[in-house]
Amino acid sequence: MSAPGPRAADVPYLPVDPAQGSARIGLIGCGGISSWHLRAYRDAGYSVVALCDVVRDRAVERQQEFFPAADVYDDHHLLLARDDVDVVDIATHVDVRPALVRDALAAGKDVLSQKPFVRDVSEGHELVELARTHGRMLAANQNGRWAPHFAYLLSAIRQGLLGEVLSADFWVYWPHDETVADHPVFSRMTELVLFDYGIHWFDMVAQVFAGKQATEVTARVKDVRTSVIPVPTNAQVGIEFPDAQASLTFRGSSHHAEWAGYRVEGTGGVLSYTSDDYLGEGTVTLTTSAGSETLPLQGSWFANGMHGSMAEVLTAREEGRPAANDASTVLPGLQLCYAALRSARDATTVDPRLVNSADR
Ligand SMILES: NC(=O)c1ccc[n+]([C@@H]2O[C@H](COP(=O)([O-])OP(=O)(O)OC[C@H]3O[C@@H](n4cnc5c(N)ncnc54)[C@H](O)[C@@H]3O)[C@@H](O)[C@H]2O)c1
Repeated sequence: MSAPGPRAADVPYLPVDPAQGSARIGLIGCGGISSWHLRAYRDAGYSVVALCDVVRDRAVERQQEFFPAADVYDDHHLLLARDDVDVVDIATHVDVRPALVRDALAAGKDVLSQKPFVRDVSEGHELVELARTHGRMLAANQNGRWAPHFAYLLSAIRQGLLGEVLSADFWVYWPHDETVADHPVFSRMTELVLFDYGIHWFDMVAQVFAGKQATEVTARVKDVRTSVIPVPTNAQVGIEFPDAQASLTFRGSSHHAEWAGYRVEGTGGVLSYTSDDYLGEGTVTLTTSAGSETLPLQGSWFANGMHGSMAEVLTAREEGRPAANDASTVLPGLQLCYAALRSARDATTVDPRLVNSADR
């Protein structure tokens, strides 16, 4: 009889809460995504003591729904001046965020930044260095790392269940155009799919192949005739490593039969994922020489993602160690993403080592 193989159910992938959980959180930027942050923090029992938005009513709305005892501000300097705010969660867009990160670090706060972390890798390194100088934590909210299907994948790889990873292929078919149609910041963003949305997938590729350097990125984007927004929503990306390959397929104006999946192959096994909910629940199938097992996953993209990102910051803070989502860890994924943006713009193949910025 052969030895029992790895059990799919033994791969941990759910967020882990801090033991004490006494840190107090202040949130800057109470826009659309902040409701998912605050819902996750409330459900996890975290303490949010202050909320800030330049449009004060947005902060008031979040206060009333999630943390009625929190104080409300329309000037982030006032929130940062409080001694009882330990961790600042910054959920604005990237165009204004680096200045807020600098202010928060200078005020002695630990920081969790929404994604995409920066538009420029040099600025990312500068912020990471600034955090080090101030002796503070700076983490980036690549919440996809805690989405059930991605958390499972990373955990299975770290446990060695797949051996050395040789290929990773991801597909998403979803109606992103309809989701963002009423939000002009997103619906007119030319880099919507490759940058704002795709950064989670580039980050996953960088994590899956951690320690390996990609050498070529080729990306193409396409307008879709049936799309309800005026920017490209179809994209495909190929990423070459010296001894491995990755691919991403995004079909963001797919109005019927939503579907998402991945297949990651290693020297020791294969992990595949399939879901008819593009961001969330679905099943993973782990196949090794010991056999094949399918497991339904618990949780969802936003709930697990926002919970997991902040849980990691709070836990690392308590344990006095760097967070797994330390901002330095998101820079390789950003570099892949910037290379894809340039490749799509210039219709060329791009060496990601030579690209520093999302902009020309
Ligand atoms: N991780 C995810 O799954 C996910 C999903 C959606 C959005 N996001 C990211 O979250 C960020 C915000 O997205 P959103 O949909 O909430 O945008 P949004 O436009 O709805 O909200 C941004 C908010 O920031 C506020 N703001 C701007 N400058 C400020 C300042 N100086 N001080 C305080 N508040 C300020 C605005 O008034 C606004 O309310 C973006 O970077 C986006 O890519 C992430």
